[in-house]
Amino acid sequence: MQIPFKVLQFGLGTMGRIIAQTLMDRGNLELVGVVDVNPEYAGKSVEEILVSDRKTSTLIFSSLKSALQVLGEQPADIALIATLSSLKDIASSISNCFEVGMDVVSLCEELSYPYIRHPKLSRNLDMLAKKHGKTVLGTGINPGFLMDLLPICLSAPCQRVDAIHVTRCINSSRRRSSFQKKIGTGMSPADFKKAISEGSITGHVGLVESIRMFDDALNLGLDSAVELPPEPVIASTDIETPIADVKKGEVIGLKSNGVGLKQGTEVVTLSFIAHAGAEPEFDEVRIEGYPKIVQRIEGGVQGDYGTVGMILNMIPLVIEAPPGLFTMKDLPCPRNTQSFWSGD
Ligand SMILES: NC(=O)c1ccc[n+]([C@@H]2O[C@H](COP(=O)([O-])OP(=O)(O)OC[C@H]3O[C@@H](n4cnc5c(N)ncnc54)[C@H](OP(=O)(O)O)[C@@H]3O)[C@@H](O)[C@H]2O)c1
Repeated sequence: MQIPFKVLQFGLGTMGRIIAQTLMDRGNLELVGVVDVNPEYAGKSVEEILVSDRKTSTLIFSSLKSALQVLGEQPADIALIATLSSLKDIASSISNCFEVGMDVVSLCEELSYPYIRHPKLSRNLDMLAKKHGKTVLGTGINPGFLMDLLPICLSAPCQRVDAIHVTRCINSSRRRSSFQKKIGTGMSPADFKKAISEGSITGHVGLVESIRMFDDALNLGLDSAVELPPEPVIASTDIETPIADVKKGEVIGLKSNGVGLKQGTEVVTLSFIAHAGAEPEFDEVRIEGYPKIVQRIEGGVQGDYGTVGMILNMIPLVIEAPPGLFTMKDLPCPRNTQSFWSGD
């Protein structure tokens, strides 16, 4: 008999809703419940929030504690955390999940390669995971795949690697509204710079994590990995976007660059471009070396759906992994796992 993996989801925001819908439609995964602190969800089911005509009623809880009271002491095989980008903000949720016997997979960007930004917290999470015999992984489309793991894998046939350049170009009007907001769509250039410096919008999070994952995987010996301040992209004419009518001179998105330096030379450059109307969309990896590799995904990977694919596909691999804190470069080759079942 085919048994699905049981999943308790944290976060029913813009990504969380797409994840929950996909989870419920996917045979080898079973959504047992959702935890979300948003008071608007109190007393509601996931099906009500998604306006789904399913006959099931999957409950939304305001905390793990209240979920355990209804679902029992070990409610799921794995917790899927899609809430926040900062590791400090989700660390206690991760350890609480270990304590009730759940592995953890998360979209938290800082968890994708946490060892440099949060050395002590990374060690603690690794220790706790091992103590409880559980696994934790940060994943996603980016960070987690397109600008780190994919180029790491593409370097395999190179006899020599001199430099790696990755560019992702996205038309943000085709992405979720929370993404369009966090890249400053509709702001004045001055408000954009203020919001970025105050942290009220984040831009893309994870370029430094991606470079550090490279450095570790290829043993590049970089002296530094830095993200330059994001630059706003300014509308040259009035433009309608899904979240705002943007006037000429206002912000339609941003460009972010990350650089990995060794002895003053740029060994890794990551260029993230996301704005309304950006064309053509693509993901491109260029490896300077021998043989030289140029790989371009025409049209780019649609980030929201790609993110959902990444996190759901990693579930069986995380459940099978040994205990501890891992990054995408440490686990078996990621792949589509819709035909993997619990106990296979
Ligand atoms: N790695 C990748 O490739 C990738 C891709 C896409 C997204 N992400 C990240 O994934 C996260 C989710 O994205 P999103 O667009 O869905 O964000 P979102 O729309 O802000 O949704 C987050 C949801 O989580 C809830 N929440 C916050 N803290 C919580 C907690 N401690 N316990 C339970 N629920 C909590 C929020 O409630 P309130 O609104 O009441 O706070 C909200 O409902 C973000 O950090 C995003 O940057 C990563």
